[in-house]
Amino acid sequence: MKFYNILTVATIVILVAFFDNVHADSQAQEQCRQLHHVDIDPSGTKFLNNNCRLNCNIHGQIYGHNINEGRTCMIGQTNYVCQNGECVGHNRQHVGHIDIELISASLYEKANAYATVCIMNNSLPISLPIQDRRNCVSCSTHVKENTNYPVWNEVCVGSSNYLFVSDSRVTTEVWDHHGSNNNVFLGGVTLTIDQLVNHGDNHRQINLAMAGGHNPGQLSTRITWTQRT
Ligand SMILES: *[C@@H]1O[C@H](CO)[C@@H](O)[C@H](O)[C@H]1NC(C)=O
Repeated sequence: MKFYNILTVATIVILVAFFDNVHADSQAQEQCRQLHHVDIDPSGTKFLNNNCRLNCNIHGQIYGHNINEGRTCMIGQTNYVCQNGECVGHNRQHVGHIDIELISASLYEKANAYATVCIMNNSLPISLPIQDRRNCVSCSTHVKENTNYPVWNEVCVGSSNYLFVSDSRVTTEVWDHHGSNNNVFLGGVTLTIDQLVNHGDNHRQINLAMAGGHNPGQLSTRITWTQRT
């Protein structure tokens, strides 16, 4: 009798797991169709690593995507987040102070150039230019008029009032100033503090290729990360 009960429970568990999987698979297929705009082969199309990664099978080839980057991936465990497609736990997130010096830029066209920084206390991806700056700790340089090579040498004011996690997103945008609402976005760089200071680049002058805008150029900056924990 007991044995049959166990069998029944086991069967139900297996069935629930099976239907759950089928549901997740159809979601994976839908998401892959949205991403690739082509028909998807169901076999091998699935979520992996607690929904941090999505594999799409297209005509026999698997295309992997890191999804939900920066979001929590373990129920009830906010310190587990998706990072590079893996669900990783930070026992303790490192926090510290960030200092940003905006040194110069090299632009393809002359502009009334100024740079503006947004620091967000998380690594969620964003697209440029940033539309919603409500969660930014911000600072901006002065405008350098009519130049391909604006030199600012300005240190961000105000960032030392805050502690940030080390995978905070730092976004720098360069704009062409034409007065209040007519400014033109020239390009920008968005990276996490960890990405900016790895390779021993902490407190060194670094040159970064800008993206977005039309004809983005290069940005020269210095990031100083002072870890507290
Ligand atoms: C960022 O997050 C850390 C860890 O949760 C917190 O200690 C810090 O105050 C936050 N900083 C800002 C600017 O929100």
